[in-house]
Amino acid sequence: MKKGKFFITTPIYYVNDVPHIGHAYTTIIADILARWHRLAGKKTFFLTGLDENSVNTIRGARKAGMADIKQYTDMMAERWISTWKALGIEYDDFIRTTEERHKKAVRDFFRKVYAKGDIYKGKYSGLYCDACEAFLSEGDLIDGKCPFHRTEPKRIEEENYFFRLSKYADKVLEHIEKNPDFIQPASRRNEVISFIKSGVKDISISRPRTDWGIELPIDSGHVIWVWFDALINYISARPDNWPAEIHLIGKDILRFHTVIWGGMLMAAGYELPKAVFAHGFFTVNGQKMSKTLGNVIDPVEISRKYGTDAIRYYLSREIPFGEDGDFSEDVLKRRINGELLSDLGNLVNRVITIAVKFEGKIEGKAELEKYLDFKRIEGHMGKLEIHHALDAIWDFIRQCNRYVNEKQPWKLEGKELSNTLYNLLESLRIISILIYPFMPNTAERICGQLDVKLGTFGDIRFRKFGGKPKKGELLFRYV
Ligand code: MSP
Repeated sequence: MKKGKFFITTPIYYVNDVPHIGHAYTTIIADILARWHRLAGKKTFFLTGLDENSVNTIRGARKAGMADIKQYTDMMAERWISTWKALGIEYDDFIRTTEERHKKAVRDFFRKVYAKGDIYKGKYSGLYCDACEAFLSEGDLIDGKCPFHRTEPKRIEEENYFFRLSKYADKVLEHIEKNPDFIQPASRRNEVISFIKSGVKDISISRPRTDWGIELPIDSGHVIWVWFDALINYISARPDNWPAEIHLIGKDILRFHTVIWGGMLMAAGYELPKAVFAHGFFTVNGQKMSKTLGNVIDPVEISRKYGTDAIRYYLSREIPFGEDGDFSEDVLKRRINGELLSDLGNLVNRVITIAVKFEGKIEGKAELEKYLDFKRIEGHMGKLEIHHALDAIWDFIRQCNRYVNEKQPWKLEGKELSNTLYNLLESLRIISILIYPFMPNTAERICGQLDVKLGTFGDIRFRKFGGKPKKGELLFRYV
């Protein structure tokens, strides 16, 4: 993998919601990709954060009985931050849109677009869905209701400021057509292309003033529409003016991140991100996750029950990345008992048990290296085929198990045992590097038992084994 830089973002989540497994999914995958690229030696920057300037925040504060909205957002932010901590998320920056650095960036951005003549005052008359925080057209509705929230949008008539998005529609389309990797996966790309071809109108980007939100730099009677404000987080918190390599998002917010964000960036004179990847949505045991059904999964609770690494593994392995999937505790258990316990856990346990008893020098000829196909794994990760990358890693783990069964090291001694252990211990060291992005805690524990330091991609090759193995706790237990 080439060195260089890698800037990845997640959506900034609405602060008034509580983190659920869907939010956790996006954030865990972003964390996996960030850790992967860090191991590859890239200068990596992983940004996530919170979207706080919505009217739903005011409602949330009211519902919580808190008069001070900022105090409410601070309280909620703690909840999000502690969730990411519990899930082993290692972001480089956490942006909150109530921060001054963000407000300043939004005002600067607005001024740039305004100076270009791309913002004008007009009258908006149409539909607005509060839950989406978005203007809807009649064509978006299903049975007169918002397709996402199944609620009737309200009809509003307001004096608003508009962004001349129509002026950029063709340019965005051209960009999409010239850059096949800009929108991924490919099926999503076609969806956006046909949306643009069906006609893009200018969009309203202000709302009548409330006491919450970012005031328009040119008119204190208005606040900036929350999406126009939120998207700019990718500029306000970016390092050294880097454009993002990947905006990782769910498929629900693809148009915002391609058509609107693309147009906004062009108008303000910024480079577009290299890629916008929209992953699928998942259901829970085949049903849509919803508060009414009471099947919303709390990621912290579930990871307390099964272990953070198991959840990280399950989410990245189970759902073909980019497609819709299903979260099922039964399948999760099957994967823990199968791939994690029988394949990986047993391998580590068997090898370490024998290695600690061996008193000779561990050395030999690399016999297992030929089964390690790092290029294949790397190729999958490069194409964001995360579940296939894991599959390829597990092929190697299973091969190591086969090697144990063939060699039967418990029956060996002397040089033969030394050679077998050499192969297995070196393989485990390499496996610890490969699985680290997915299961950082497990990787560290394997390194602890091997008595080696966690390596980077440069260390993925058989060499002299330098550790003094020691017995540790079992990595996984039957659930
Ligand atoms: N605040 C906006 C995003 C602004 S980004 C400039 C927003 N926030 S959100 O809190 O509603 O988060 C939406 C994101 O949560 C989705 O894009 C997706 O990444 C994630 N998911 C929410 N529900 C999900 C599932 N059921 N399944 C998978 N991901 C889900 O939209």
